[in-house]
Amino acid sequence: MGFQWDEKYSTGNNEIDKQHKQIFTYLDDLEAHMKQGASLKWVTHFMTALGLYTRTHFCFEEICMRRTKCPVADKNKQQHGKLLKIFDKAQKRFEKEGVSDELLIEVQNFLTSWLVNHIMKIDVHLKACAK
Ligand SMILES: [Fe+2]
Repeated sequence: MGFQWDEKYSTGNNEIDKQHKQIFTYLDDLEAHMKQGASLKWVTHFMTALGLYTRTHFCFEEICMRRTKCPVADKNKQQHGKLLKIFDKAQKRFEKEGVSDELLIEVQNFLTSWLVNHIMKIDVHLKACAK
């Protein structure tokens, strides 16, 4: 299937758009591996890599919003904090419960819907701030 990038996700900041696209590439990779039956080793590696990438991306985005005095800067930071908490919980569940289709689907659905919603509701505000 894969995620289709659309102009409506654009934040007007090329670097941030590139990072968002990279996160969607991670999710595509997850989907591909789920079809083949992802191992715990792969999932552990995947969650660590995506977690690191996302943290770096959030920092970058938060700095951009602060710099441009974006009115949603605080809200953005709050939402990032919430996402990371849920992400860490999912990571711990994989460690404790191991890999199951149910847990993988739950994590995949959550990440995809969270990201799309967050980009559409919060990150796109950057467009107006950058001007
Ligand atoms: Fe954001």
